[in-house]
Amino acid sequence: MSALTLEEKCRLLGGASTWRTHAIPRLGIPAIKMSDGPNGARGESLGANRTPGLNIPTSIVIGASWDVGLAQELGQLLGREARRKSAHVVLAPAVNLHRTPIGGRTFEYLSEDPELSARLASAIVRGVQSNDVSPTVKHFAGNDTEIDRMTVDAQIDELTLREFYLRPFEATVLDTGAWGVMSSYNKLNGEHAANNIELLRHILRDDWGFDGFVVSDWFGAHDTAGSIEAGLDVPMPGPSTVYGRHLLAAVREGRVSEVRVDERVEALLLLIERTQAHERPASSAEQTVDDANEREVVRRAAAAGAVLVRNERGTLPLVPGSVRSIAVLGPNARVTRTQGGGSSSLQSIETVSLLKGLAERYGEDVMRYRRGVSIDKLAPIIDDETLRTPEGARGWRVEYYDRDDVSGDPRRVDTTLQSALTYFGAAPPGVDPFDFTVVVTGDYLPTVDGTHDVSLVLTGMGSLRVNGETVVNDPQGLLPRGREYFGFGSEEQLHGIPMKKGVPVRIEARMRTRAGFSALRIGIRSPEDPNEFSDAVALAEESGTAIVVVGTNDEWETEGHDRDTIVLPGRQDELVSRVAKVAKRTIVVVNAGAPVAMPWLEEVDAVLIGFFGGMEMSRAIADVLSGERDPGGRLPIVYPRRLEDSPAMRDYAPVNGVQKYTEGEWFGWRGQARAGVEPLIPFGHGLSYGDSAWGAPRVV
Ligand code: BGC
Repeated sequence: MSALTLEEKCRLLGGASTWRTHAIPRLGIPAIKMSDGPNGARGESLGANRTPGLNIPTSIVIGASWDVGLAQELGQLLGREARRKSAHVVLAPAVNLHRTPIGGRTFEYLSEDPELSARLASAIVRGVQSNDVSPTVKHFAGNDTEIDRMTVDAQIDELTLREFYLRPFEATVLDTGAWGVMSSYNKLNGEHAANNIELLRHILRDDWGFDGFVVSDWFGAHDTAGSIEAGLDVPMPGPSTVYGRHLLAAVREGRVSEVRVDERVEALLLLIERTQAHERPASSAEQTVDDANEREVVRRAAAAGAVLVRNERGTLPLVPGSVRSIAVLGPNARVTRTQGGGSSSLQSIETVSLLKGLAERYGEDVMRYRRGVSIDKLAPIIDDETLRTPEGARGWRVEYYDRDDVSGDPRRVDTTLQSALTYFGAAPPGVDPFDFTVVVTGDYLPTVDGTHDVSLVLTGMGSLRVNGETVVNDPQGLLPRGREYFGFGSEEQLHGIPMKKGVPVRIEARMRTRAGFSALRIGIRSPEDPNEFSDAVALAEESGTAIVVVGTNDEWETEGHDRDTIVLPGRQDELVSRVAKVAKRTIVVVNAGAPVAMPWLEEVDAVLIGFFGGMEMSRAIADVLSGERDPGGRLPIVYPRRLEDSPAMRDYAPVNGVQKYTEGEWFGWRGQARAGVEPLIPFGHGLSYGDSAWGAPRVV
């Protein structure tokens, strides 16, 4: 500490780039690298080029497991993955409570119950720290809605705050000695969390004795003196938003005392020591490891958190060999969702769809598939055989240029299979990460004749050309903003383009960005098959046994905005009801990260909720359906019959920027039980296989 100059101290705290702090080589102080969680460690990415990694089940699955030992194992995996991504800090666990069932990040949080969340969060933290990796328990605190999340003022009375919303954070500090916490975007009782003295100083450090480091949520710090005073160690991302030169000026002008700066530097040095950062350079290459034992843990976890909510007449397990024909239906059978949208989303190592997982178990010959309905919110992204680069390879060509100069050779050319590209302050060497142009080109091979919708969403300035014709032109980034990409994305621009089967269509999207976060997404929707729905129902009737895989996806459930409803998107409810009428046996698998309404619950034979269960979800669900494993999950949140039954919905949206928690502690199942409102499925419910009976009680 004494060897550091004031300039160096301020620089150290300022954050160097999107995921890193500054190093001070003169004193051997290494940079710290952070990586997103909680369902894995994402590592750094450039567009669609991401380092694949373990995709562990989303937090709600861990919540549903009620299994502290398992949570610790998953925490260990998370820590190990963080190390492989050369990170010292993993931005997890996420422990806000499910105040309502429609919070955009419900899948990312453990439970609506403070105590369950507390125990599981502590176990995850223990697991992460056992790898000399620091967690950041997030988002501290009151970040329970995505509506206006950067500015909303969550007004929570002290009892509700301390005994409920703060409880998981408190447990990780008191029980496990958590090394890191992330302050949330929102205001809590009038002050932004990142400069909230009551929260960061009085409660966290004074009351709980926290000695770790506090990082702000990305772009969530606004006040230099206020944050230092409150005890925020590192505002992120860098280059420095409120510390660095701003902090230096504040000290020089006497607005901040150097003693406060020293306290923060001390916390950062302790983090460096705890995570052994001097031995693990932040610049090491990221690694992908696909390990059979780790897959097994993730698979076991997905089954442990799968909730069997209904099983009439022993429909399940459905033993392989006992049926000759199974109709597999529904939008999420072929595109099974293992994670939700937003910063937690990562590139998983190999993962299979439920269709494939079931085929592995029951045999290809037994199964036939129809989608039945589509639930795409935006035109689907294209990542299959139907795309070629101009050079004839599979996928898209992605070119990078510095600033807006696209005249010469690109600075870098990539090929990617995915048409959704995100940039968290990253750019190839020689390209300014805060000012570059990306050009994405591909030839789409239509599989049917007819008008296809080609779509573009972008955060920057740009255009879309189809067969040389400009269909979107927004050189100044003036398109109205929609909900995508945390609200920074434009509204989806859709254009109907007549296409002929097999005749390639050249698509070229271009974007210039000058922001620390940017994204571009191209979608193509082929004409709908008018018989899709009726074919699915007919197949169910013919097969006798139907497995209908319903759910949402990472566009319906994502960080950045809440859902509007718990009703399943598209005609899924109708599909289930119709199938239930004609099939002898209807088994529904729900692949959604949060509660959904199930108006057909009583009509079907079995319902298994798999949530967003991580990369081994499909095989785990096949394990459970076939009876290889017991469905271990019990609901960590009540499933209301109707959204309005959820107690916090009475005061749900902020008024004039203020979100009052008028229901106090009576949210979720507590509030419903108190008001005598019957749930669709109660908190804690979940069946196992086997029979049980109540006997006479005995004191042992
Ligand atoms: C999220 C955090 C995340 C951070 C960095 C924010 O948008 O709220 O949970 O860790 O971005 O990606």
